[in-house]
Amino acid sequence: MKQDATSVIDIHSHFFPPITQAEAASLDPERAPWLQVGDNEHGMIMTGNKPFRPVYSALWDPARRIAEMDEAGVDQQIMCATPVMFGYNYPIALALPWAQRMNDYAIELCAHDPQRLKTLAQVPLQDIEAACREASRAKSIGHIGVQIGNHFGNKDMDDADMLTFLTHCASEDIPLLVHPWDMMGGDQRMKKWMLPWLVAMPAETQLGILSLILSGAFERLPRSLKICFAHGGGSFAFLLGRVDNAWRERDIIREDCPNLPSSYVDRFFVDSAVFDTRALELLVDVMGEERVMLGSDYPYPLGEQQVGKLIRESRFSSQTREGLLSGNARRFFGI
Ligand code: CO
Repeated sequence: MKQDATSVIDIHSHFFPPITQAEAASLDPERAPWLQVGDNEHGMIMTGNKPFRPVYSALWDPARRIAEMDEAGVDQQIMCATPVMFGYNYPIALALPWAQRMNDYAIELCAHDPQRLKTLAQVPLQDIEAACREASRAKSIGHIGVQIGNHFGNKDMDDADMLTFLTHCASEDIPLLVHPWDMMGGDQRMKKWMLPWLVAMPAETQLGILSLILSGAFERLPRSLKICFAHGGGSFAFLLGRVDNAWRERDIIREDCPNLPSSYVDRFFVDSAVFDTRALELLVDVMGEERVMLGSDYPYPLGEQQVGKLIRESRFSSQTREGLLSGNARRFFGI
């Protein structure tokens, strides 16, 4: 329950709508995701005929979601797609209507309580013109921003098309959440124990941030760009000293990046999903207290189980906690 009057906004939570098998088959009968609901409480995300992940009703039932928000003392929650829904590998003729359908589903979920439930759109990054148009359409129907994966195919955040998309979002005041997905390492080396989530995901996020910094992209992107990286920016904060040292000592790292890597931390935000007080303190120290926002990864098991607990029980001043719990998110998303 809430312990004080500070409002709480969770900026990183996922939904998965009741996609039917027939709907998924229109994208890809073998691999597109859909929801098999066993009873009203439990379900399975399926890809084709294969179980992908066991899930429960908070993912698709907004009333359940609101009840759990009440229990956790969360006032507003920003939902985004579960990355398996992205569809970046398909021809645009299939991927655009798919993204639009997912975005319409998201708005339908929010309609249950539009004040408390907000959502970020997904866009077909494989066709940047279509991605820009869908980002704008999504904004016009009520999405408050866009979630993108940290890469599409072999293209990273410094890809020219990606920068075109980021510039479009900056010009239309569309905030972005970057989520790691399609993790590096493959089945051979990341074979079990959820290693893709524990090792590769933080590295994917680090790759996304460093792609923007070391390519010099931040020199060309407008300062008005609002971009946030999930999971506390992955490995970024802990390894920033290593990157700065490398930049000082090796000219090949300075080649495209004119300024010390750590000087770019004021160009992006991160969420607070780091699960350890010491990590949160380092993160706030590295990023600055105005650039960290509560994000839980709800309702998945690898998310913060008591949303906001890490921040609420931190040693920060009440003013800093207020910023982390809601003030920074309010400014970032304009809500
Ligand atoms: Co997530």
